[in-house]
Amino acid sequence: MNNLEFESKFKDYQNKINSRLDNILSIADIPQKEVIEAMKYSLGANGKRIRPILCTAVCEMLSHNMDITADEREALINDAIYVGCAIECIHTYSLIHDDLPCMDDDDLRRGKPSCHIKFGESTALLAGDGLLNFAFELLSDLSEYSYIKSDKIIKIISELSKNSGVYGMIGGQIIDLACENKTDADIKLLTKMHRLKTGALLRASAVCGAIASGASDEIIDKIISFAMSLGLAFQIKDDILDFVGDEKLLGKPVGGDLKCNKTTYVSLISLENAEKELNVLTKQAEDTVSELDFSEFLVCLSEFLLGREY
Ligand code: IPE
Ligand code: IPE
Ligand code: MG
Ligand code: MG
Ligand code: MG
Repeated sequence: MNNLEFESKFKDYQNKINSRLDNILSIADIPQKEVIEAMKYSLGANGKRIRPILCTAVCEMLSHNMDITADEREALINDAIYVGCAIECIHTYSLIHDDLPCMDDDDLRRGKPSCHIKFGESTALLAGDGLLNFAFELLSDLSEYSYIKSDKIIKIISELSKNSGVYGMIGGQIIDLACENKTDADIKLLTKMHRLKTGALLRASAVCGAIASGASDEIIDKIISFAMSLGLAFQIKDDILDFVGDEKLLGKPVGGDLKCNKTTYVSLISLENAEKELNVLTKQAEDTVSELDFSEFLVCLSEFLLGREY
């Protein structure tokens, strides 16, 4: 797959995800319009949509070895996009809360004022809660219309709730806050923090795509190993971009980690070593996923995430 083919496939996924997200939130119409408005605002159009893309691309890759018709494959991929949209709701909730004054206190997100700057802290808090609950509402509503049936949906809900909860993303955010102003954090703790706060949801995205396709335990283990390398690499790159990135491209503040005295790969092992580690992990992710058939898009995605400037 060359660069142009990758970019076109990536854009195609993004477009499908964005239009699905638009549809999904217009269904939720309640008298308390402000909280819906805040949810829609943050879900916005400027996210990269890496998690839903990962979910869909893993599902699509594995679908090529399934004995199904073209129509069935289309229905399956459509469902994977929908599952990905639920994951994007969880991710967006985590960003809204992450920016609050009691967390990282950041005013800019996805190129716009953060949710609490635009709507106030209490609405932002509730919009985050709203998106989290909405994600599981979407997933539990899936089986009525879908190609993926309830046994798989229950597995997806289990994977996602565990990895976004206290054993996963929330656990990592707790360590992140505990490591502010900490002078004796070591690489082991930092790696655990990154694997949990960011790696866990990326892992869940890939695994949910695999579950949707009915993958064997052996394949799921390979997907986990791929996504764990990719997930850690993703947060190391985020640390690097917070140090050397361009705020205009990133759409979020640069230097926020320094401001909060965060422990990051850059602060702990230096920019140069963080870049080395990022390269090693990306190569690991690519080598692992390459062992599977039809993995070209995911190899290109790993390379894109390595070089990204936003
Ligand atoms: C940012 O995630 C927060 C992290 C977990 C590192 P992304 O870089 O995927 O942010 P968006 O979704 O594109 O805005
Ligand atoms: C965020 O890590 C992890 C989340 C679970 C949201 P960061 O705090 O570094 O993410 P950014 O840089 O604000 O997007
Ligand atoms: Mg944070
Ligand atoms: Mg932050
Ligand atoms: Mg960051």
